This record gives sequence, C-alpha cells and structure tokens, in this order.
Amino acid sequence: MTQIERLTSQPIALRINGRVEHLTVDGAVPLLTVLRNDLGLNGPKYGCGLGECGACTVLVDGVAARACAMPLAGVAGREVTTLEGLGGEGALHPVSIDPLHPVSIAKLHPVSIAKLHPVQRAFIQTQAAQCGYCLNGMVMATVALLRRQPRPSDAQARAALAHNLCRCGTHIEILAAVQVAAGLMAEAMPPAGSADSAGSAG
Ligand code: FES
Ligand code: FES
Repeated sequence: MTQIERLTSQPIALRINGRVEHLTVDGAVPLLTVLRNDLGLNGPKYGCGLGECGACTVLVDGVAARACAMPLAGVAGREVTTLEGLGGEGALHPVSIDPLHPVSIAKLHPVSIAKLHPVQRAFIQTQAAQCGYCLNGMVMATVALLRRQPRPSDAQARAALAHNLCRCGTHIEILAAVQVAAGLMAEAMPPAGSADSAGSAG
C-alpha cells in the first residue's frame, strides 16, 4: 500500500501513551503499522502479523490487545498504551535497545532503571530474555494480568501468557518475573487504610 493510499481526509483521533494524536491514515490500516511506521513507537514488535504470537501486544483501555490484528479505526477514541508508555519520563527499557549495539544492563544508569515500570524491572531482575523479541508482549501481557489479578498463582500466570510465544525458551524466567513483579507492585501500593488508599477508594 502506498503512502497516498493510506491517507484519508478524516483524521482519526487516538490517545496514545497519554497524548492525543490526530492521524490522517486509512482506518483499516493495522494499529501496529501506525505505531511503528507513523509514530516511531517500536516497542511493539511485528512477529506473525496474524494475531497468533503476541509480540505486538499493547494495552487498549488497560486490556492486552494484538496491535497487528486491530484496525486503527477500532481504537479511535480509546486509550492505547505501548511499552514506551509504561515507565516514567526518561526511563530506558531494555527491549527497545538496538540489538546490534546492545548495552549491558549493568551499565544502564540506576535512575533510568528506577523509572521503569515494576514489571520491566522484574524482567531485568530475573534476566527473563534471550533475544528479547517476545519481551514486549510478555511485559504488556503481564501488566494487564496484574491489573486484574495482583497476586496471580503460577497456574494463572501460565494461563495468562499461554498465547504469547517465546522461541528462545525463557519461560521459566518469565514466570519468575511475573511473581517478582507482583511483589514489587504490592510494595509500591499504599498500605490499606492509609490516606492514599482511602482517597483512591472513592
Ligand atoms: S505480530 Fe501480532 S500477534 Fe504476532
Ligand atoms: S527471548 Fe527470544 S523469543 Fe522470547
């Protein structure tokens, strides 16, 4: 499809990582194509392009979704979060490091690591990657899982990630990362009954 064919006269408004984007792109174009080619958000990966592997996973309104199988028009007006939107400003995330010029995790600045989402920190801590190609999907699916099940059992974690494929076989470390992430997120929660938790209940 040429660039001209992808253009439309009616911009589509999307909310991506907290920013509103107005895109003059055909609404039938897959969200993944727009994220990577138009917005430069390369955290989501192109794996199968068929909704089968999970490498392209993003969050749509907080729920894990396959960006390769989702037309742009299907997310108009909804909140899309990519890997880039998880950490705080200035955070580095290891899966977006250029694989041709890898940087040792040990050399990353501690402040950058501290700004990562707890799930990302857990994946670093457990070294849950080899090539890292699946990692975007594993991280995003884990974030979605912990939103609905803050303390998942191992069986629940396996079920939640069963359709995210890892060709390198780091499944054991990935499952360990889920449990570490659950612990980090529980630590970050204000204690029950505190002013913060009381305020958020309403
Ligand atoms: S690239 Fe989207 S599921 Fe495989
Ligand atoms: S670490 Fe290579 S595909 Fe999962």
